Amino acid sequence: MAYETIIVEIEDQIALIRLNRPEALNALNSKLVDELSRALTEADQNDKVRCIVLTGNEKAFAAGADIKEMSEKSFVDVYGEDLFGAKIEAIQRVRKPMIAAVSGYALGGGCELAMMCDFIICGENAKFGQPEINLGVVAGIGGTQRLTRFVGKSKAMDMNLTGRFMDAAEAERSGLVSRVVPTPKVIPEAMSAARKIAEKSAVTAKAVKESVNRSYEVSLREGLLFERRSFHSMFATEDQKEGMAAFIEKREPQFRDK
Ligand code: HXC
Repeated sequence: MAYETIIVEIEDQIALIRLNRPEALNALNSKLVDELSRALTEADQNDKVRCIVLTGNEKAFAAGADIKEMSEKSFVDVYGEDLFGAKIEAIQRVRKPMIAAVSGYALGGGCELAMMCDFIICGENAKFGQPEINLGVVAGIGGTQRLTRFVGKSKAMDMNLTGRFMDAAEAERSGLVSRVVPTPKVIPEAMSAARKIAEKSAVTAKAVKESVNRSYEVSLREGLLFERRSFHSMFATEDQKEGMAAFIEKREPQFRDK
């Protein structure tokens, strides 16, 4: 499938999706969001893909929603079309593991998009922020919700109220990103993490993702019950038998996603 605003490469069971509007620091216009949601849905359904890496370029992961496209819209326009609603829901429905590889700016919708991934690996030059307040709007796709869960109320308020940027060291310290690497190593590091994940049972990987994501939705007691039942259900898979047999026989497991 040919896209105009993103580049999709599938290699070694990893889909590498690059946001590609360098002239606008990868600002998320409606075409890009549409193409991205389609590409992610396709990757999720493609048997040749076991993990997805989402990235931008060295200067920007994405500098937010496209301000030029939004600026003239009215409330009735954005409410009527439910701006970013359905397309973003599609991105959130992806069941395969998804890593954000962030260099440069991840601002507004860009920071929110990175947070929709399962984890974030960033370069030393990364800058995260929710500067929507400078435009007279509030964040719209997770900046007040996911960011608060990642970094806590105080930093989330600080970021959303002052619009300041957070550098890579602070992002790692605050739990927003899982790893910081020298900027040229961001994609190799994310690809290497993706390859590690691709070696696991795809069934187990989906169950892990489901269970961690549950922790945001339910009480601890319900979450622990969900996790325990998920653990129990893995005993219905061949991959559980293979994984445990391989450990006992001191060999590498050969998972078959069954
Ligand atoms: C449209 C954008 C853009 C954006 C950058 N550009 N960000 N276009 N929407 N979000 C364009 C600029 O207009 C410029 O185009 C080109 O990209 C390069 O940007 P510069 O500003 O010249 O670069 P620089 O001086 O290096 O500054 C980088 C920057 C700044 C600090 C990241 O561009 C910036 O503040 N951008 C806006 C960040 C932001 O407010 N994001 C939140 C958006 S609202 P020209 O044609 O002039 O060369 C949002 C809401 C989400 O995300 C809610 C979803 C429902």
